[in-house]
Amino acid sequence: MKILIASDHGGFKLKEHLKTYFKKQNYEFEDMGTYNEKSVDYPIYASKVAKRVPNEDNTLGVLICGTGIGISIAANKHKGVRAALVDSVTMARLSREHNNANIVCMGGRTTGSLIAEEIIETFINTKFEAGRHQRRIDLLEGI
Ligand code: RB5
Repeated sequence: MKILIASDHGGFKLKEHLKTYFKKQNYEFEDMGTYNEKSVDYPIYASKVAKRVPNEDNTLGVLICGTGIGISIAANKHKGVRAALVDSVTMARLSREHNNANIVCMGGRTTGSLIAEEIIETFINTKFEAGRHQRRIDLLEGI
């Protein structure tokens, strides 16, 4: 499993924290920016990850802006992306079980670093339940 991670300036600190966590856990990841706290535009960083995730095997995305709102809206404009704005472990679990989310979005200014680690663990380790949920995913793809 590979993780593609990106943020704007509002998510930079949490992104850096999560990179340290990924290294500790031996997770393969790629940092697609931003690389400092200078103000940037979140749609650009959303697109870097959202263009790749649906086209690469066994790859999940992590996107972070100040609230997670803007970057999730931007990511969901890309075909094949199901980006979920998550701020709890329960939402992380359900975003995988029911929505087969392939990108998890968080707010660097609204979600603490330890909760973010738990969110990532849950997101990575929870499987899609398929069944009736697959029908809904298929409908989503047709919109
Ligand atoms: C940037 O100031 C902020 O608007 C952005 O990080 C994000 O929170 C937008 O949804």
